[in-house]
Amino acid sequence: MSELRVQAISSLRAEFSVPGDKSISHRAAIFSALANGVCTIRNFLPSEDCLNTLNAMQALGARHEVLAELTGYGPTHLVIHGQAMKLHAPAAALDCGNSGTGMRLLAGLLAGQPFSSELFGDASLSCRPMGRITTPLGLMGARIETRGSQPGCAPLVIHGTPLTPITYQMPVASAQVKSAVLLAGLFANGTTTVVQPAETRDHTERMLASFGVATHHEGNAIALAGGQMPVACEFTVPGDISSAAFWLVAAAALPGSRLLLQNVGLNPTRTAILKVLTRMGAHMIDIVHHSAGEPIGDIEIHGAPLTGTTILAEEVPNLIDEIPVLAVAAALASGRTSIRHARELRVKETDRITTVVNNLRAMGAHVVEFDDGMEIEGGQPLHGAELDSFGDHRIAMAFAIAGLFAEGETLIRNTACVNTSYPGFAHHLQAILDHRSSPEDFTLPTLCHL
Ligand code: S3P
Repeated sequence: MSELRVQAISSLRAEFSVPGDKSISHRAAIFSALANGVCTIRNFLPSEDCLNTLNAMQALGARHEVLAELTGYGPTHLVIHGQAMKLHAPAAALDCGNSGTGMRLLAGLLAGQPFSSELFGDASLSCRPMGRITTPLGLMGARIETRGSQPGCAPLVIHGTPLTPITYQMPVASAQVKSAVLLAGLFANGTTTVVQPAETRDHTERMLASFGVATHHEGNAIALAGGQMPVACEFTVPGDISSAAFWLVAAAALPGSRLLLQNVGLNPTRTAILKVLTRMGAHMIDIVHHSAGEPIGDIEIHGAPLTGTTILAEEVPNLIDEIPVLAVAAALASGRTSIRHARELRVKETDRITTVVNNLRAMGAHVVEFDDGMEIEGGQPLHGAELDSFGDHRIAMAFAIAGLFAEGETLIRNTACVNTSYPGFAHHLQAILDHRSSPEDFTLPTLCHL
Protein backbone atom coordinates (compact mmCIF):
# COMPACT_ATOMS: atom_id res chain seq x y z
CA MET A 1 0.00 0.00 0.00
CA SER A 2 1.50 3.36 -0.96
CA GLU A 3 2.30 6.13 1.47
CA LEU A 4 3.64 9.68 1.51
CA ARG A 5 6.37 10.85 3.89
CA VAL A 6 6.64 14.59 4.40
CA GLN A 7 8.92 16.88 6.41
CA ALA A 8 8.80 20.62 7.02
CA ILE A 9 10.09 22.93 4.28
CA SER A 10 11.86 26.23 4.83
CA SER A 11 11.07 27.86 1.48
CA LEU A 12 8.87 27.44 -1.56
CA ARG A 13 9.71 29.19 -4.82
CA ALA A 14 8.35 27.41 -7.87
CA GLU A 15 6.58 27.71 -11.23
CA PHE A 16 4.60 24.86 -12.74
CA SER A 17 1.22 23.64 -14.01
CA VAL A 18 -1.17 21.21 -12.38
CA PRO A 19 -3.00 18.54 -14.45
CA GLY A 20 -6.35 19.12 -16.13
CA ASP A 21 -9.60 19.84 -14.35
CA LYS A 22 -11.49 16.74 -13.16
CA SER A 23 -15.02 18.16 -13.46
CA ILE A 24 -14.36 19.48 -16.97
CA SER A 25 -12.63 16.28 -18.15
CA HIS A 26 -15.65 14.14 -17.18
CA ARG A 27 -17.93 16.46 -19.13
CA ALA A 28 -15.59 16.67 -22.13
CA ALA A 29 -15.63 12.85 -22.41
CA ILE A 30 -19.43 12.71 -22.19
CA PHE A 31 -20.33 15.59 -24.53
CA SER A 32 -17.70 14.59 -27.12
CA ALA A 33 -19.21 11.09 -27.23
CA LEU A 34 -22.65 12.59 -27.94
CA ALA A 35 -21.43 15.03 -30.62
CA ASN A 36 -22.07 14.79 -34.34
CA GLY A 37 -18.45 14.04 -35.31
CA VAL A 38 -14.85 13.75 -34.16
CA CYS A 39 -13.88 15.90 -31.15
CA THR A 40 -10.37 16.74 -29.97
CA ILE A 41 -9.62 17.19 -26.27
CA ARG A 42 -6.36 18.67 -25.00
CA ASN A 43 -5.08 18.49 -21.42
CA PHE A 44 -7.61 15.80 -20.48
CA LEU A 45 -7.05 14.62 -16.89
CA PRO A 46 -5.88 10.98 -16.95
CA SER A 47 -6.99 10.35 -13.38
CA GLU A 48 -8.81 7.17 -12.39
CA ASP A 49 -12.15 9.00 -12.11
CA CYS A 50 -12.00 10.53 -15.58
CA LEU A 51 -10.56 7.39 -17.20
CA ASN A 52 -13.55 5.45 -15.88
CA THR A 53 -15.91 7.94 -17.52
CA LEU A 54 -13.91 7.85 -20.76
CA ASN A 55 -14.03 4.03 -20.76
CA ALA A 56 -17.77 4.11 -20.02
CA MET A 57 -18.32 6.30 -23.08
CA GLN A 58 -16.23 3.88 -25.14
CA ALA A 59 -18.37 0.98 -23.86
CA LEU A 60 -21.41 2.99 -25.01
CA GLY A 61 -20.01 3.15 -28.54
CA ALA A 62 -17.81 6.28 -28.62
CA ARG A 63 -14.33 5.10 -29.60
CA HIS A 64 -11.33 7.27 -28.70
CA GLU A 65 -7.75 7.46 -29.96
CA VAL A 66 -4.87 8.63 -27.82
CA LEU A 67 -2.59 11.31 -29.32
CA ALA A 68 -0.47 11.87 -26.20
CA GLU A 69 -0.41 10.34 -22.75
CA LEU A 70 0.94 10.97 -19.31
CA THR A 71 3.33 8.07 -18.88
CA GLY A 72 1.90 5.43 -16.60
CA TYR A 73 -1.53 7.06 -16.36
CA GLY A 74 -3.43 7.62 -19.60
CA PRO A 75 -4.45 10.07 -22.34
CA THR A 76 -3.98 13.82 -22.06
CA HIS A 77 -4.60 14.56 -25.75
CA LEU A 78 -7.16 12.47 -27.58
CA VAL A 79 -9.89 12.37 -30.17
CA ILE A 80 -13.34 10.95 -29.43
CA HIS A 81 -15.61 9.73 -32.19
CA GLY A 82 -18.97 11.30 -31.37
CA GLN A 83 -22.01 9.09 -31.91
CA ALA A 84 -24.51 11.81 -32.87
CA MET A 85 -26.65 11.15 -29.74
CA LYS A 86 -27.01 7.42 -30.62
CA LEU A 87 -25.29 5.35 -27.96
CA HIS A 88 -25.13 1.53 -27.90
CA ALA A 89 -26.13 -0.74 -25.04
CA PRO A 90 -22.94 -1.60 -23.12
CA ALA A 91 -21.87 -5.24 -23.07
CA ALA A 92 -21.21 -5.16 -19.31
CA ALA A 93 -21.89 -3.06 -16.20
CA LEU A 94 -20.04 0.30 -16.21
CA ASP A 95 -17.43 0.88 -13.49
CA CYS A 96 -17.45 4.41 -12.02
CA GLY A 97 -14.70 3.60 -9.49
CA ASN A 98 -14.58 6.27 -6.78
CA SER A 99 -16.40 8.97 -8.72
CA GLY A 100 -19.69 10.51 -7.63
CA THR A 101 -19.50 12.88 -10.60
CA GLY A 102 -19.02 10.00 -13.05
CA MET A 103 -21.89 7.95 -11.63
CA ARG A 104 -24.38 10.80 -11.30
CA LEU A 105 -23.70 12.31 -14.73
CA LEU A 106 -23.78 8.91 -16.43
CA ALA A 107 -27.06 8.06 -14.67
CA GLY A 108 -28.59 11.24 -16.15
CA LEU A 109 -27.26 10.34 -19.58
CA LEU A 110 -28.44 6.72 -19.43
CA ALA A 111 -31.95 7.47 -18.11
CA GLY A 112 -33.20 8.44 -21.59
CA GLN A 113 -31.50 5.71 -23.65
CA PRO A 114 -33.44 2.93 -25.40
CA PHE A 115 -31.61 0.25 -23.38
CA SER A 116 -30.91 -0.80 -19.80
CA SER A 117 -27.53 -0.42 -18.15
CA GLU A 118 -25.83 -0.80 -14.80
CA LEU A 119 -23.44 1.51 -12.97
CA PHE A 120 -21.30 0.38 -10.05
CA GLY A 121 -18.45 1.81 -8.01
CA ASP A 122 -16.02 1.11 -5.18
CA ALA A 123 -16.91 0.72 -1.50
CA SER A 124 -16.91 4.51 -0.89
CA LEU A 125 -19.10 5.30 -3.91
CA SER A 126 -21.47 2.46 -2.95
CA CYS A 127 -22.25 4.34 0.31
CA ARG A 128 -22.95 7.73 -1.27
CA PRO A 129 -26.53 9.00 -1.69
CA MET A 130 -28.01 8.42 -5.14
CA GLY A 131 -31.59 9.38 -4.18
CA ARG A 132 -30.67 12.96 -5.11
CA ILE A 133 -30.53 11.87 -8.77
CA THR A 134 -32.92 8.92 -8.84
CA THR A 135 -35.71 11.24 -7.56
CA PRO A 136 -35.61 13.80 -10.42
CA LEU A 137 -34.81 11.16 -13.04
CA GLY A 138 -37.78 9.13 -11.73
CA LEU A 139 -40.00 12.23 -12.11
CA MET A 140 -38.89 12.31 -15.78
CA GLY A 141 -40.09 8.71 -16.16
CA ALA A 142 -36.88 6.73 -15.75
CA ARG A 143 -36.95 3.56 -13.68
CA ILE A 144 -33.76 3.26 -11.65
CA GLU A 145 -33.14 0.46 -9.17
CA THR A 146 -30.70 1.14 -6.35
CA ARG A 147 -29.31 -2.31 -5.63
CA GLY A 148 -26.73 -1.44 -2.97
CA SER A 149 -26.57 -2.98 0.46
CA GLN A 150 -27.42 0.50 1.80
CA PRO A 151 -30.79 2.05 0.86
CA GLY A 152 -30.67 4.47 -2.07
CA CYS A 153 -27.12 3.49 -2.99
CA ALA A 154 -25.27 2.01 -5.99
CA PRO A 155 -25.10 -0.26 -7.93
CA LEU A 156 -27.72 1.46 -10.09
CA VAL A 157 -29.71 -0.44 -12.69
CA ILE A 158 -31.13 2.06 -15.14
CA HIS A 159 -34.03 1.07 -17.33
CA GLY A 160 -33.81 3.74 -20.03
CA THR A 161 -37.06 5.12 -21.42
CA PRO A 162 -38.38 8.15 -23.38
CA LEU A 163 -38.28 10.99 -20.85
CA THR A 164 -40.81 13.67 -19.93
CA PRO A 165 -39.34 17.13 -19.24
CA ILE A 166 -39.69 18.53 -15.72
CA THR A 167 -39.04 21.70 -13.78
CA TYR A 168 -36.95 20.56 -10.84
CA GLN A 169 -36.27 22.61 -7.73
CA MET A 170 -33.08 21.02 -6.42
CA PRO A 171 -33.11 20.48 -2.64
CA VAL A 172 -29.28 20.48 -2.42
CA ALA A 173 -26.83 22.83 -4.16
CA SER A 174 -25.13 20.19 -6.29
CA ALA A 175 -23.57 20.59 -9.73
CA GLN A 176 -23.72 16.84 -10.12
CA VAL A 177 -27.50 16.76 -9.68
CA LYS A 178 -27.96 19.78 -11.96
CA SER A 179 -25.81 18.11 -14.62
CA ALA A 180 -27.58 14.75 -14.35
CA VAL A 181 -30.97 16.41 -14.91
CA LEU A 182 -29.66 18.53 -17.82
CA LEU A 183 -28.08 15.46 -19.48
CA ALA A 184 -31.38 13.61 -19.14
CA GLY A 185 -33.13 16.74 -20.45
CA LEU A 186 -31.09 16.54 -23.64
CA PHE A 187 -32.99 13.29 -24.37
CA ALA A 188 -36.41 14.52 -23.15
CA ASN A 189 -39.28 15.59 -25.34
CA GLY A 190 -39.55 19.31 -24.43
CA THR A 191 -37.87 21.81 -22.11
CA THR A 192 -36.32 20.67 -18.82
CA THR A 193 -35.59 23.30 -16.16
CA VAL A 194 -33.44 22.95 -13.04
CA VAL A 195 -33.56 25.54 -10.28
CA GLN A 196 -30.57 25.62 -7.91
CA PRO A 197 -30.93 26.71 -4.27
CA ALA A 198 -27.49 28.39 -4.66
CA GLU A 199 -25.05 28.82 -7.51
CA THR A 200 -22.93 25.72 -8.19
CA ARG A 201 -20.08 25.15 -10.64
CA ASP A 202 -21.35 25.85 -14.15
CA HIS A 203 -19.06 23.64 -16.28
CA THR A 204 -21.99 21.73 -17.79
CA GLU A 205 -23.71 24.93 -18.95
CA ARG A 206 -20.46 26.29 -20.39
CA MET A 207 -19.65 23.04 -22.14
CA LEU A 208 -23.15 22.78 -23.60
CA ALA A 209 -22.55 26.24 -25.10
CA SER A 210 -19.13 25.18 -26.46
CA PHE A 211 -20.88 22.25 -28.19
CA GLY A 212 -23.52 24.58 -29.65
CA VAL A 213 -26.37 23.47 -27.36
CA ALA A 214 -28.58 26.39 -26.28
CA THR A 215 -29.60 26.85 -22.65
CA HIS A 216 -31.65 29.64 -21.14
CA HIS A 217 -30.61 31.15 -17.79
CA GLU A 218 -32.74 33.15 -15.41
CA GLY A 219 -31.33 33.70 -11.92
CA ASN A 220 -30.40 30.25 -10.62
CA ALA A 221 -32.69 28.46 -13.14
CA ILE A 222 -31.33 26.77 -16.27
CA ALA A 223 -33.63 25.56 -19.04
CA LEU A 224 -32.67 23.27 -21.90
CA ALA A 225 -34.78 22.11 -24.85
CA GLY A 226 -34.37 18.39 -25.53
CA GLY A 227 -33.33 16.93 -28.86
CA GLN A 228 -30.45 19.33 -29.55
CA MET A 229 -27.37 17.71 -31.12
CA PRO A 230 -23.95 18.68 -29.67
CA VAL A 231 -21.74 19.97 -32.50
CA ALA A 232 -18.25 18.42 -32.64
CA CYS A 233 -15.48 20.78 -31.48
CA GLU A 234 -11.95 21.05 -30.10
CA PHE A 235 -11.65 21.62 -26.40
CA THR A 236 -8.75 22.48 -24.06
CA VAL A 237 -9.21 21.54 -20.41
CA PRO A 238 -7.73 24.10 -17.99
CA GLY A 239 -5.59 23.06 -15.01
CA ASP A 240 -7.64 22.02 -11.99
CA ILE A 241 -7.96 24.80 -9.40
CA SER A 242 -8.87 22.14 -6.82
CA SER A 243 -5.43 20.53 -7.40
CA ALA A 244 -3.76 23.96 -7.48
CA ALA A 245 -5.34 24.65 -4.07
CA PHE A 246 -2.89 22.31 -2.29
CA TRP A 247 0.13 24.30 -3.44
CA LEU A 248 -1.66 27.63 -3.02
CA VAL A 249 -2.20 26.84 0.66
CA ALA A 250 1.42 25.68 1.06
CA ALA A 251 2.70 28.93 -0.45
CA ALA A 252 0.13 31.15 1.30
CA ALA A 253 1.12 29.85 4.74
CA LEU A 254 4.89 30.22 4.22
CA PRO A 255 6.06 33.85 4.51
CA GLY A 256 8.67 34.63 1.82
CA SER A 257 7.37 32.05 -0.64
CA ARG A 258 6.54 32.74 -4.27
CA LEU A 259 4.53 30.33 -6.40
CA LEU A 260 3.35 30.74 -9.98
CA LEU A 261 0.80 28.22 -11.21
CA GLN A 262 0.17 28.42 -14.94
CA ASN A 263 -2.94 27.70 -17.01
CA VAL A 264 -5.32 27.14 -14.13
CA GLY A 265 -9.08 27.20 -14.63
CA LEU A 266 -10.40 30.49 -13.21
CA ASN A 267 -14.12 29.86 -13.62
CA PRO A 268 -15.77 32.23 -11.08
CA THR A 269 -17.87 29.35 -9.72
CA ARG A 270 -14.60 27.73 -8.54
CA THR A 271 -12.38 30.63 -7.41
CA ALA A 272 -13.68 31.29 -3.88
CA ILE A 273 -10.50 29.59 -2.60
CA LEU A 274 -8.50 32.54 -3.99
CA LYS A 275 -10.77 35.07 -2.25
CA VAL A 276 -10.58 33.21 1.05
CA LEU A 277 -6.77 32.87 1.01
CA THR A 278 -6.50 36.58 0.17
CA ARG A 279 -8.84 37.39 3.06
CA MET A 280 -6.58 35.33 5.32
CA GLY A 281 -3.59 37.48 4.33
CA ALA A 282 -1.94 35.85 1.28
CA HIS A 283 -0.83 38.15 -1.54
CA MET A 284 -2.31 36.97 -4.79
CA ILE A 285 -2.48 37.99 -8.41
CA ASP A 286 -4.62 36.01 -10.80
CA ILE A 287 -4.53 36.87 -14.46
CA VAL A 288 -7.11 35.53 -16.87
CA HIS A 289 -5.35 35.34 -20.22
CA HIS A 290 -7.74 33.27 -22.24
CA SER A 291 -11.45 32.70 -22.08
CA ALA A 292 -12.83 30.31 -24.68
CA GLY A 293 -15.65 28.58 -22.85
CA GLU A 294 -13.71 28.32 -19.59
CA PRO A 295 -11.47 31.14 -18.30
CA ILE A 296 -7.83 30.05 -17.97
CA GLY A 297 -5.04 32.03 -16.32
CA ASP A 298 -2.00 32.16 -14.09
CA ILE A 299 -2.03 32.53 -10.33
CA GLU A 300 0.92 34.10 -8.54
CA ILE A 301 0.87 33.87 -4.77
CA HIS A 302 3.21 35.18 -2.09
CA GLY A 303 3.07 33.82 1.45
CA ALA A 304 2.40 35.94 4.53
CA PRO A 305 1.35 35.36 8.13
CA LEU A 306 -2.26 34.17 7.82
CA THR A 307 -5.20 35.02 10.06
CA GLY A 308 -8.39 33.03 10.54
CA THR A 309 -11.62 33.80 8.72
CA THR A 310 -15.28 32.85 8.51
CA ILE A 311 -16.33 30.92 5.42
CA LEU A 312 -19.69 32.32 4.33
CA ALA A 313 -22.60 29.97 3.62
CA GLU A 314 -22.80 31.20 0.03
CA GLU A 315 -19.08 30.47 -0.49
CA VAL A 316 -19.39 26.81 0.48
CA PRO A 317 -20.59 25.29 -2.86
CA ASN A 318 -17.84 27.25 -4.66
CA LEU A 319 -15.03 25.77 -2.53
CA ILE A 320 -16.53 22.50 -1.29
CA ASP A 321 -13.61 20.39 -2.58
CA GLU A 322 -11.01 22.80 -1.16
CA ILE A 323 -12.31 22.69 2.43
CA PRO A 324 -9.93 19.90 3.60
CA VAL A 325 -6.86 21.91 2.58
CA LEU A 326 -8.46 25.17 3.70
CA ALA A 327 -8.85 23.60 7.15
CA VAL A 328 -5.08 22.98 7.08
CA ALA A 329 -4.54 26.67 6.20
CA ALA A 330 -6.81 27.56 9.13
CA ALA A 331 -4.70 25.46 11.52
CA LEU A 332 -1.61 27.38 10.35
CA ALA A 333 -3.30 30.80 10.68
CA SER A 334 -3.56 32.81 13.87
CA GLY A 335 -7.05 33.11 15.35
CA ARG A 336 -10.27 31.25 14.71
CA THR A 337 -11.63 29.97 11.40
CA SER A 338 -15.25 28.97 11.16
CA ILE A 339 -16.42 26.56 8.45
CA ARG A 340 -20.15 25.90 8.81
CA HIS A 341 -23.11 25.23 6.43
CA ALA A 342 -20.97 22.47 4.91
CA ARG A 343 -22.93 19.32 5.81
CA GLU A 344 -22.41 18.11 2.22
CA LEU A 345 -18.82 17.30 3.26
CA ARG A 346 -20.21 14.31 5.14
CA VAL A 347 -21.29 12.60 1.89
CA LYS A 348 -18.10 13.06 -0.15
CA GLU A 349 -15.49 10.31 -0.77
CA THR A 350 -15.25 10.11 3.05
CA ASP A 351 -17.09 12.00 5.76
CA ARG A 352 -14.69 14.91 5.29
CA ILE A 353 -15.75 16.68 8.49
CA THR A 354 -14.72 13.71 10.63
CA THR A 355 -11.61 12.77 8.63
CA VAL A 356 -10.30 16.37 8.60
CA VAL A 357 -11.05 16.94 12.29
CA ASN A 358 -9.42 13.67 13.40
CA ASN A 359 -6.28 14.14 11.31
CA LEU A 360 -5.88 17.80 12.38
CA ARG A 361 -6.22 16.78 16.03
CA ALA A 362 -3.63 14.01 15.53
CA MET A 363 -1.19 16.75 14.45
CA GLY A 364 -1.91 18.91 17.50
CA ALA A 365 -4.48 21.36 16.10
CA HIS A 366 -7.40 22.60 18.19
CA VAL A 367 -10.64 21.83 16.36
CA VAL A 368 -14.29 21.70 17.36
CA GLU A 369 -16.52 19.49 15.22
CA PHE A 370 -20.09 20.46 14.33
CA ASP A 371 -22.70 18.55 12.40
CA ASP A 372 -22.26 21.00 9.50
CA GLY A 373 -18.58 21.86 9.76
CA MET A 374 -15.83 22.80 12.19
CA GLU A 375 -14.15 25.65 14.02
CA ILE A 376 -10.38 25.70 14.10
CA GLU A 377 -8.37 27.65 16.68
CA GLY A 378 -5.26 28.22 14.59
CA GLY A 379 -1.67 28.90 15.47
CA GLN A 380 -0.93 25.80 17.59
CA PRO A 381 2.35 24.26 16.37
CA LEU A 382 1.66 21.12 14.30
CA HIS A 383 3.66 17.99 14.92
CA GLY A 384 4.28 15.10 12.55
CA ALA A 385 1.95 12.13 12.92
CA GLU A 386 0.98 8.83 11.30
CA LEU A 387 -2.24 9.50 9.46
CA ASP A 388 -4.59 7.64 7.16
CA SER A 389 -6.21 9.06 4.04
CA PHE A 390 -9.15 6.68 4.56
CA GLY A 391 -8.97 6.20 0.78
CA ASP A 392 -9.91 9.85 0.13
CA HIS A 393 -7.65 11.63 -2.35
CA ARG A 394 -8.25 15.12 -0.98
CA ILE A 395 -7.56 14.00 2.61
CA ALA A 396 -4.26 12.40 1.51
CA MET A 397 -3.13 15.56 -0.29
CA ALA A 398 -4.41 18.07 2.30
CA PHE A 399 -2.41 16.31 5.04
CA ALA A 400 0.70 16.11 2.87
CA ILE A 401 0.48 19.91 2.86
CA ALA A 402 0.01 19.97 6.65
CA GLY A 403 3.17 17.84 6.90
CA LEU A 404 5.17 20.59 5.15
CA PHE A 405 4.56 22.73 8.27
CA ALA A 406 4.86 20.12 11.03
CA GLU A 407 7.77 19.40 13.32
CA GLY A 408 9.16 15.94 12.54
CA GLU A 409 7.94 13.52 9.91
CA THR A 410 4.34 13.09 8.79
CA LEU A 411 3.44 9.70 7.32
CA ILE A 412 0.23 9.41 5.35
CA ARG A 413 -0.85 5.86 4.62
CA ASN A 414 -3.16 4.59 1.92
CA THR A 415 -2.32 7.26 -0.66
CA ALA A 416 -2.84 5.43 -3.98
CA CYS A 417 -6.17 7.31 -3.98
CA VAL A 418 -4.43 10.54 -5.07
CA ASN A 419 -4.60 9.13 -8.61
CA THR A 420 -8.36 9.69 -8.41
CA SER A 421 -7.78 13.37 -9.19
CA TYR A 422 -4.06 14.24 -9.31
CA PRO A 423 -1.73 11.90 -11.21
CA GLY A 424 1.78 13.19 -10.54
CA PHE A 425 1.02 14.65 -7.09
CA ALA A 426 3.84 12.67 -5.46
CA HIS A 427 6.29 13.96 -8.11
CA HIS A 428 5.26 17.58 -7.48
CA LEU A 429 5.42 17.04 -3.70
CA GLN A 430 8.95 15.63 -3.97
CA ALA A 431 10.06 18.61 -6.07
CA ILE A 432 8.71 20.94 -3.37
CA LEU A 433 10.39 18.89 -0.59
CA ASP A 434 13.66 19.10 -2.55
CA HIS A 435 13.25 22.90 -2.81
CA ARG A 436 13.27 22.72 -6.60
CA SER A 437 12.07 25.78 -8.47
CA SER A 438 12.30 25.44 -12.23
CA PRO A 439 9.29 24.34 -14.33
CA GLU A 440 11.30 21.37 -15.75
CA ASP A 441 11.61 19.88 -12.26
CA PHE A 442 7.81 19.64 -12.15
CA THR A 443 7.21 18.40 -15.70
CA LEU A 444 5.48 15.02 -15.75
CA PRO A 445 6.74 12.57 -18.40
CA THR A 446 4.47 12.37 -21.43
CA LEU A 447 4.52 10.16 -24.52
CA CYS A 448 3.41 11.64 -27.82
CA HIS A 449 1.75 9.35 -30.42
CA LEU A 450 1.30 12.00 -33.12
C1 S3P B 1 -18.55 18.16 -9.03
C2 S3P B 1 -19.39 18.79 -8.14
C3 S3P B 1 -19.19 18.82 -6.69
C4 S3P B 1 -17.76 18.42 -6.30
C5 S3P B 1 -17.27 17.25 -7.09
C6 S3P B 1 -17.30 17.53 -8.56
C7 S3P B 1 -18.88 18.17 -10.46
O1 S3P B 1 -20.08 17.92 -6.07
O2 S3P B 1 -17.70 18.15 -4.92
O3 S3P B 1 -15.93 16.93 -6.72
O4 S3P B 1 -17.98 17.89 -11.28
O5 S3P B 1 -20.03 18.45 -10.81
P1 S3P B 1 -21.61 18.34 -5.82
O6 S3P B 1 -22.10 18.91 -7.07
O7 S3P B 1 -22.34 17.08 -5.49
O8 S3P B 1 -21.56 19.29 -4.66
